[in-house]
Amino acid sequence: MGVALPMLRDVLRSVQLERVSPRLVRLSITDRCDMACVYCRPVRDDAYLPASERLGVDGWETVLRGLQAEGVRRVRITGGEPLLHRDVLALVRRVASLGVEDLALTTNASRLASLAVPLREAGLRRLTVSLDSLDPDVFASITRGGDLAEVLRGVDAARAAGFDELKLNTVVLRGLNDGELPAITRWAWGLGITPRFIEVMGVGEGGRIWRERLVSRDEMRSRLDGLVVDGDGVRDDDRGPARYVEAADGSGRRVGFITGSTDTYCARCDRLRVTSDGNLRPCLATPDGVSIADAVRRDDAGAVREALREAWDRKPDAAWRGCTEDSARAVSMRGTGG
Ligand code: 5AD
Repeated sequence: MGVALPMLRDVLRSVQLERVSPRLVRLSITDRCDMACVYCRPVRDDAYLPASERLGVDGWETVLRGLQAEGVRRVRITGGEPLLHRDVLALVRRVASLGVEDLALTTNASRLASLAVPLREAGLRRLTVSLDSLDPDVFASITRGGDLAEVLRGVDAARAAGFDELKLNTVVLRGLNDGELPAITRWAWGLGITPRFIEVMGVGEGGRIWRERLVSRDEMRSRLDGLVVDGDGVRDDDRGPARYVEAADGSGRRVGFITGSTDTYCARCDRLRVTSDGNLRPCLATPDGVSIADAVRRDDAGAVREALREAWDRKPDAAWRGCTEDSARAVSMRGTGG
């Protein structure tokens, strides 16, 4: 075993490196957030990075030029809460002007009511809203003070703005929102939104609660009361780890499942992350990264490209167990971007 395991890891690693190259980047443009979800951060006023260390719009352009040279084609903007960044519209406009294949953003929707239309006009194509409960009290308790009514106004505004695709992220938590799956599904489908149910992962603050709060994908399915057909579902090409199953009523509507805790998906991972202070992160489940802050300050896209090669070499191999690895606890989800 002592010999065989490292050999197996080598084989898996060579297979992985042959096939997978960086395609999708998630930009965490700020570590600030106006909520404090129980699986993400401990309190609402933990420390933020100094604003002076945060990349600006020009800096993000340098980052993207470097990453594009190495093959990155799709961009998702996250945080923290990205709509708290005062230059978010200028940033979306700039990224859209760089000719990426896909431009999406994940938000808690607290600021979406006024920003949905401007975001669409700035060139944002797809939007994902994080929403864990349709009960105002449960919502406030999971988010430590979030205002559901404000979020629902944001969702309405996003529908009216006409994005190419609207999705919902719901982290399922035993004893908190696990009875709401059918209600959330029906509500989302009624609005033309695709719900995705996410297993809580042991990243950062999630490391404290995931074992007691985890609801597995199989249990989620059984809680969906026959709303979807049987089967494992399918992944969308080039669209991350979610697997989608179809509605049982034949309407073609779908529900997605993201199984970061019971069935990790490291083998085909083509994503990387960049933090708001310019750290290139090859994997969500470890704080390991390569700093590009100096390269960005010098406007040196070539150095960013070199850094990406270095970061990609450090990508964990296909035997990695993702967010179930102990290292995941040391990651700040808020600083990294979900
Ligand atoms: N486990 C699962 N999902 C998480 N997210 C944040 N932290 C965790 C965690 N510990 C999700 C958020 C959001 C997305 C960006 O990441 O709910 O939808």
